[in-house]
Amino acid sequence: MRIEVNGRCHEQEPRPGQCLRTYLREHGWFGVKKGCDAGDCGACTVHVDGEPVHSCLYPAFRADGRTVTTVEGLASPDGELHPVQRKFLDAQGFQCGFCTAGFLMTTAALTDDQLADLPRAFKGNLCRCTGYRAIEDAVRGVRHVEEPSAGESVGRNLPAPAGPQVVTGTARYTFDVDVPGLLHMKLLRSPHAHARITSIDTSAALRVPGVHAVFTHHDAPERHYSTARHEHPEEDPADTRLLDDTVRHIGQRVAAVVADSEAAAEEGCRRITVVYDIAPAVLDPEEAMRPGAPVVHDKDPSAARISRPQANVVGEAHGEIGDVEAGFAEADAVHEETFRTQRVQHASLETHGAVAWLDEDGRLTVRTSSQTPFLTRRALCALFDLPSERVRVVAGRVGGGFGGKQEMLVEDIVALAVLRLGRPVKLEYTRAEQFHGATTRHPFTVRVKAGARRDGTLTALQLRVVSNTGAYGNHGPAVMFHSVGESTAMYRAPHKKVDAYSVYTHTVPAGAFRGYGLGQVLFAVESALDELARQLCLDPVDFKARNIIGPGEPMLTPGGHEEDLHIASYGFDQCVAVVRRAQAEPGEPPPDGWLVGEGAALAMIATGPPGGHIADARAALLADGGFGLAVGTAEFGNGTTTVHRQIAAGELATTVDRITVRQSDTDVVRHDTGAFASTGTVVAGKATLRAARALADLLLDFAAAHLRVARADCRLADEAVLHPGGRLPLKELYAAARAVGIECAADGHFGGTPRSVAFNSQWFRVAVDPGTGEIRILRSVHAADAGRVMNPMQCRGQVEGGVAQALGATLFENVRLDARGEVETAAFRRYRLPQYADIPRTEVHFTETTDAIGPLGAKSMSESPFNPVAPALANALRDATGIRFTELPLTRDRVWRALDASRRTPRPPVSP
Ligand code: FES
Repeated sequence: MRIEVNGRCHEQEPRPGQCLRTYLREHGWFGVKKGCDAGDCGACTVHVDGEPVHSCLYPAFRADGRTVTTVEGLASPDGELHPVQRKFLDAQGFQCGFCTAGFLMTTAALTDDQLADLPRAFKGNLCRCTGYRAIEDAVRGVRHVEEPSAGESVGRNLPAPAGPQVVTGTARYTFDVDVPGLLHMKLLRSPHAHARITSIDTSAALRVPGVHAVFTHHDAPERHYSTARHEHPEEDPADTRLLDDTVRHIGQRVAAVVADSEAAAEEGCRRITVVYDIAPAVLDPEEAMRPGAPVVHDKDPSAARISRPQANVVGEAHGEIGDVEAGFAEADAVHEETFRTQRVQHASLETHGAVAWLDEDGRLTVRTSSQTPFLTRRALCALFDLPSERVRVVAGRVGGGFGGKQEMLVEDIVALAVLRLGRPVKLEYTRAEQFHGATTRHPFTVRVKAGARRDGTLTALQLRVVSNTGAYGNHGPAVMFHSVGESTAMYRAPHKKVDAYSVYTHTVPAGAFRGYGLGQVLFAVESALDELARQLCLDPVDFKARNIIGPGEPMLTPGGHEEDLHIASYGFDQCVAVVRRAQAEPGEPPPDGWLVGEGAALAMIATGPPGGHIADARAALLADGGFGLAVGTAEFGNGTTTVHRQIAAGELATTVDRITVRQSDTDVVRHDTGAFASTGTVVAGKATLRAARALADLLLDFAAAHLRVARADCRLADEAVLHPGGRLPLKELYAAARAVGIECAADGHFGGTPRSVAFNSQWFRVAVDPGTGEIRILRSVHAADAGRVMNPMQCRGQVEGGVAQALGATLFENVRLDARGEVETAAFRRYRLPQYADIPRTEVHFTETTDAIGPLGAKSMSESPFNPVAPALANALRDATGIRFTELPLTRDRVWRALDASRRTPRPPVSP
């Protein structure tokens, strides 16, 4: 056996059945990624004798005598980047970068003919972050990045500092580490939706050669906790045990086997004998709330923080402003409708997983794919009674999150094994486990009732919301509260009422997902108000614009949680203006015989979570005259590292390339709540701003004293302190300060409150084929009020990625369960993600506002673009077909069935 990989020979025989992907990674070629291991995502693409192949499907033995090139071998031997790598850097054709090696390898092998047909050429590659526009620009040679140079950094298209590592395959994600003596963990999962484990026999598993240990509920701490990670753990119910003797959904972990290899651990799982006492299960949240339904968590409600366990209600919100019945009585038209949204998966290309070990001091070190390293450390300490200094949690580069990694799904069980065995242990979810054992977006049922006067004044808005949190309440109550917050606050009806329930069922747990519940309720509200406007013969955009909250107006929501929320800059009017311009412009004609329609939706979102969100940052002058910046927040493609460097560079009058960032490691700063709720810029960025500003002050104070000149006559510029007598290079300043024992470093802190709000609008023109139900997007326009935009290229990428992800959730993504509650779509082949060919270009427009709260006027823009997409598309579909669609996804089948029904019963329009 002899395989030449990137010019190096490997002669080790592969194991029977081993694929080329694992063979290459075991030889240190970590640029080859695992996204699905089924040939669907393309993250593992390499060249074999110059031909691109999915290495997860390619048997390693077939590479015998062949030449393999991975992304690490794409550059020339002297290090000059391949033209394709250079183009991806120039266009920043990536966010998290986990898919990038695959796209680079595919692109590098394309012929001119294939380059002319990218939808076909990229059929085998998926990207979950970018929405594909940046990738297309990269392939076409469009240059977006600006070179770092002296002068203002904020507001420029500066590149991500990790770009060169991303395009050369040397960026290190969670599993891209070589840990000597590593053991592998595999999980046995429940085949039943609801059962009690009456016995579990692990003896046969322990006899499998290579198996070191099997862990069951007998080994688990008795403590209950939530897998959700929040600054205040009491926001979530304590309903989860590390390994439980009761299973509450198909796919719940039952036992863990640790072995020398993944194969031995899998064999160990197969040899475990579990006897289950099967109990009735309830899969539907409305049924779960009825008297006599199976109870999912029979716990003390106050100890477990569950609202009404016997009714399966984990959390609920009830509130009224004014008197909605009076509001409906004074309305000239009332529209009432029920809307449903489906389960959606985050589908980040990097799966969940962790590698942990004891360091030389015996300290537990966990390297994990997490959006919340600090909160994970806190949870591990509480679970295992460890002081915080005995636990370090660090995230490498994270391969996509979207909220899915705001959970502790793997770190707890890996830590248990490491603490028991004293050996390094790794657990890496398969793609199927992502569907069975990770989390989804919450499916919602929303009943909306809205009333308005003939002149278009909204008089009353009422919501009844039921959210299915699945078997565990991680994020359940918090998502429910958020869903009825900004969605009701953004309209100024004098009478509003909310009744909302987060309900347990015996199904795969839901969790945090981009938009955090708001998108589900906005689908209902924005659709219902569109319908109400049509009843009143008003233009829906005019009607909404008349009723949206204005600058300076209070946030009024019956759901609460808006006390520290302010309109610190107002761009809603500009978002509406972008929609009006799009409406006024002539459109591309639809294909012959197709129906055509337009629709818009508006959205508002808080720029951080309620209750505070903490970030610490530390800025330091280094001996070489450069700067070090330490932040706790993780980088998973959201671009915060780039923005933090831009902010710090501005305060320190330097260029971004002179700032080195360390991040997402519990050793680098005191605390950080985490990279979620769109806080990377507005919270961690503000801490960065304060740290950099404090350091600049410290350096100028010291320089003035040292030089015996007035402080006001000193300023930072050109890697020096400029003063009336000339310039003091920062290198010399550092040496002088250290000589007298002064540390050139400063901390910054922000607690995440008060909060501002960001605004978005989305507009579509669509064509619909009445013969098939196919929807074609003719034009997509998005307006975003992100305050002062720190990096337009990057922020536009967030918007494009958010719109693309939302289009998947609107048009076809659906985690389907069978009648027993088992996920039927546990592979990308059965769970359709948007491909290159599915996503239209979205025109992105930024408003011109400067926020009074956000750092340097910035607001967040990670989650918000997702939220108006589904209702805008449904409204366009309504305009085209006359049919109000009330259930997602808007699949071709569903559209065709509704069109067919309306043809047979032409009036009135039907709701499918
Ligand atoms: Fe493509 Fe993250 S950049 S999956």
